[in-house]
Amino acid sequence: MQSSNTCANNYSFADRAYASISQRMLPAELALMQDDIAAVRRLKQERNAIILAHNYQTPEIYYGVADIVGDSLVLAREAMNVDASVIVVAGVHFMAETAKLLNPDKTVLIPDSRAGCSLAESITATDVRNLRRRHPGLPIIAYVNTSAAVKAEVEYCCTSANAKRVVEFAAHEAGTDTVIMLPDRYLAANTARTTSINIIAWDGACEVHQRFAAADIAHVRAQYENVTVLAHPECPEDVVEVADFSGSTAAMADFIRKHRPTRVALITECSMSDNVAAEVPETEFVKPCNLCPHMKRITLGNIRLSLETMGKEVIIEPVIASRARISVERMLAIP
Ligand code: 13P
Ligand code: SF4
Repeated sequence: MQSSNTCANNYSFADRAYASISQRMLPAELALMQDDIAAVRRLKQERNAIILAHNYQTPEIYYGVADIVGDSLVLAREAMNVDASVIVVAGVHFMAETAKLLNPDKTVLIPDSRAGCSLAESITATDVRNLRRRHPGLPIIAYVNTSAAVKAEVEYCCTSANAKRVVEFAAHEAGTDTVIMLPDRYLAANTARTTSINIIAWDGACEVHQRFAAADIAHVRAQYENVTVLAHPECPEDVVEVADFSGSTAAMADFIRKHRPTRVALITECSMSDNVAAEVPETEFVKPCNLCPHMKRITLGNIRLSLETMGKEVIIEPVIASRARISVERMLAIP
């Protein structure tokens, strides 16, 4: 795969993924997986459906059935160009909502509607309205990891791939040197380190990334000589500070594709290492393993069921959707 949003329905990639997972699976499990992959591919054609999969999905989804893979920004951008009647989101609920916001006339399905996110759950629309009352006149930027109801209350949406750009753009547009960025306190702090704009943050955190500590990185470096450490900006600041590079999931994957380090530690959700490792066999992956329980609710089996039953459909109240769409479209329009 050459880039983070290339079509993954290519047998040689799937074969590589099988090779990497077959060592960890029983032959019966592997046979079931192949049966599900064949069924999902057939159902996609029958339903005129495509599958958007986040970089944290397991290799059998990422390589076996996904049409578009990437970080939240790639998935949002690509969702706008989808030529299909049905979009299945192999990711968490806010990603499916974003796809629906950008495709109000298409059917958007999420295989398990319980696939949430600790960040999205940390803030409500009422919290945002209260924040605005406390800080009148300041632009508010919501991380894409929020509900549509929260996005409906803000000026801009952002992702980990464009946070700095959106912060600077929003401040410039509003003629201010201070913005509000919610709900991830670590993304806000890590973005603030890269810009002169003051950022007022909310106190949310990602339950997966907040568990990493600078001591873990010191331990990895002590154990593995010449290791390149890449950290997601949802990690605490002291972790990002000691990493060699920090960026969105797609930016980290691109870094590895470009630099081909001998050894790498991806300080983020664990499945991503399996996906990138299949592309760069010469790189050794050290895996400090934290899994996102929400991402892991999506499985090959429930993707198949979703296409068989056309459930669970993502529905957003029209009044909320029309306002939330504006903040996402404003983000996508920033050059
Ligand atoms: P990315 O947009 O970097 O893929 O991050 C999404 C996410 O939920 C990370 O935890
Ligand atoms: Fe949310 Fe964290 Fe899971 Fe990403 S890894 S979906 S931010 S809980």
